[in-house]
Amino acid sequence: MSDGPALSNLSTETRHFDPPAELAENANVTAAAYDEAKADRLVFWETQARRLEWTTEWDEPLQWEPPFAKWFVGGELNASVNCVDRHVEAGNGDRVAIHWEGEPGDTRTVTYADLHREVCKAANALTELGVSQGDRVMIYLPMIPEAVVAMLACARLGAPHSVVFGGFSSDALRNRIDDTGAKVMITADGGYRRGKASALKPAVDESIEGTDVDKVLVVRRTGEEVPWTEGRDLWWHDLVDGQPETHEAQAFDSENPLFILYTSGTTAKPKGILHTTGGYLTQAAYTHHAVFDLKPETDIFWCTADIGWVTGHSYIVYGPLANGATQVMYEGTPDTPHKGRFWELVQKYRVTIMYTAPTTIRTFMKWGDDIPDGFDLSSLRLLGSVGEPINPEAWMWYREHIGHDKAPIVDTWWQTETGAIMVSPLPGVTSTKPGSAQVPLPGISVDVVDESGSPVGNGGGGYLVISEPWPAMLRGIWGDDQRYKDTYWSRFADMYFAGDGAKKDDDGDLWLLGRVDDVMNISGHRISTTEVESALVSHPKVAEAAVVGASDPTTGQAIVAFVILRGSASEAAEDDPDAGEALIQELRQHVSKEIGPIAKPRQVMLVPELPKTRSGKIMRRLLKDLAEKRELGDVTTLNDSTVMDAIGDKVAAGSSGED
Ligand code: WT7
Repeated sequence: MSDGPALSNLSTETRHFDPPAELAENANVTAAAYDEAKADRLVFWETQARRLEWTTEWDEPLQWEPPFAKWFVGGELNASVNCVDRHVEAGNGDRVAIHWEGEPGDTRTVTYADLHREVCKAANALTELGVSQGDRVMIYLPMIPEAVVAMLACARLGAPHSVVFGGFSSDALRNRIDDTGAKVMITADGGYRRGKASALKPAVDESIEGTDVDKVLVVRRTGEEVPWTEGRDLWWHDLVDGQPETHEAQAFDSENPLFILYTSGTTAKPKGILHTTGGYLTQAAYTHHAVFDLKPETDIFWCTADIGWVTGHSYIVYGPLANGATQVMYEGTPDTPHKGRFWELVQKYRVTIMYTAPTTIRTFMKWGDDIPDGFDLSSLRLLGSVGEPINPEAWMWYREHIGHDKAPIVDTWWQTETGAIMVSPLPGVTSTKPGSAQVPLPGISVDVVDESGSPVGNGGGGYLVISEPWPAMLRGIWGDDQRYKDTYWSRFADMYFAGDGAKKDDDGDLWLLGRVDDVMNISGHRISTTEVESALVSHPKVAEAAVVGASDPTTGQAIVAFVILRGSASEAAEDDPDAGEALIQELRQHVSKEIGPIAKPRQVMLVPELPKTRSGKIMRRLLKDLAEKRELGDVTTLNDSTVMDAIGDKVAAGSSGED
């Protein structure tokens, strides 16, 4: 490693967009919030905590024994009451909570009064199954309203839920059951994905053998036949539907566990990230109010994430419902039955705020502009992005083709571990820059430091850290305090290290540069994958790119790029190998020109797909194996295991432009 900066700062971006005047004038949060938080961070968070209904007021806002935090100590509340009952009591029972759309086109409209009734019945049902405070409950469901109901019913009983994404295998499910020690599982016969009924119950049966699970509650969604174990398996409609429609909720301590959610590290055993009640709900609700500028009476919010990820927990369930929002929930994939499905839903429900991931945006870029252009998207007034760095060109495409140059984009940086958004523009305040997550939210202390933990100045690159405890922070890794300390708090003294590289531009705005594990070292220069990928995506023919550092006899590592072309460019390259070769050279030159010769890829491979995790993150590790012509490593977290074969075939057959 060189003694140079922790990460080179290669690209510059000069475009920026001021908030629309009308939005700024009526914004939920103004620049004053930064001053308030700076004056007294804890008082600021106490003010935000008062957005919730507490049965008992807290004694002190924070108890901090690094790295263990307690927020709103001594306070008591019920998360489910905050998300449901209080809206009904305020007279908003008729407001739609969820416009649900099944993939086959069936729909359900769930008002807050409906949600209240269903959550109460489900809480009574779980009580009948013996669930009470502290018991862990597994949830393995498709994107149907019962998923929300099940989570809120658990929260109502003070029983932490652990939701497992429906696309995970029975092995993944079993590991999580074992780790939580859950006794009850809530699942469904199946759900609809890509036009087909996809079964869930057989995976559940496999996963629970030999575990402590002795009750399985099964929602009927597809109507397909399922394997059944009498005495253990119960239909949701048999047990829940007949329950009393009210349920007296008990208040729980602010630090009562609310959920355990597993993050799948690419190789190591998944970590059970523990979140508790008062602090988590405070920050989820505040950030949803501040970052999305939500007006509960008029906005239609749509977060496209699955409920099995933290984005679904915080911005489908807890944040929006605590704020009394009306939202869209969609069961299926964006290309079923056609590639305009998302835009058809925006048009149908007049969605005003949309929150999605860069991988989805780049997929739409690949499919072509004409698809969204064919729908009326004029209702959209605010757009959000989360999950990966968003390339400036993907940001611009989102702005032009989805936001029609009027809706501001908020690029929100956070993690399963942080529980809620940490770094983001405020839509009524910040002049947004394509590709930058920009500034820590009011009350959040984030910095970029060098190897030794000293803050880098503007223009410098390094490691993203969080320097003060925050309300929605993880309270630990379930059952493993030592791993919690080692993973997050050992790299720098008294600072949480997030694992991400970042830089500060000349204005002090933050640019996320990807996981530091992915950083490349080219002739002693540490170069982030993100900047090279963004340079590639800035070429008009490129939809998506992933780069890796492959070992190289001269430079230590050399950059190998995997590129997906946009619709028509892809066909042209496919039809004419010479044109493909010329384009490869053009792309190498393009990177060299955009960010400098040091970043010029040694090879560029045109590929049909990229390997991604189930939550849509590019798995560079596998591409590195391919670039170094090694046996592929563990592919079990891949979303689609055939993708690597398709890329491997392309790579074996084609030229890559190596000098
Ligand atoms: C990692 C956390 C946060 C909910 C979904 C992902 C990356 C997330 C951004 C962003 C650049 C981002 C980071 C982070 N990430 N948002 N706006 N810009 N990178 O949650 O699965 O826990 O992943 O996702 O690398 O550490 P997660």
